[in-house]
Amino acid sequence: MERTLAIIKPDAVAAGVVGKILSRVEAAGFTIRALKLVHLSKRQAEGFYQVHRERPFFQDLTTFMSSGPAVPLLLERENAIAAWRELMGATNPAQAAEGTLRKEFATDIEKNAVHGSDSPATAAYEIAFFFSALDVCPRD
Ligand code: CMP
Repeated sequence: MERTLAIIKPDAVAAGVVGKILSRVEAAGFTIRALKLVHLSKRQAEGFYQVHRERPFFQDLTTFMSSGPAVPLLLERENAIAAWRELMGATNPAQAAEGTLRKEFATDIEKNAVHGSDSPATAAYEIAFFFSALDVCPRD
């Protein structure tokens, strides 16, 4: 079993599609090990996305991610990192395949509804960013 960190981003929470996205998570065979509703500060969003700090979109990205509540999720499944990235679809929803979450729920490359870790090392950092050991439900 592998774990990944997913986020239902502020655009999707504001659009009222948290329940729809969670039902897609469950239908795809992920076990939700932890979940919460958080409104990140700008500083916290900058910390979460520190790997992108040199990118031209860093300020916009962290302003958006601190613009309203979001729902981080700790997901577990076989091959969870790749499976969640496949379910999300391409970062830019204009390139996202039919049937993916970003095709259905994203607006543009910034307001793209969901986030997912891109490697085991990133997943470890991102999971620890949001969840302590006590937040994580150890079994079904
Ligand atoms: P996410 O998977 O959360 O990881 C970094 C985010 O930066 C990405 O989704 C996009 O929402 C956002 N972003 C904004 N502009 C760009 C861009 N030009 N290229 C890549 N990511 C971008």
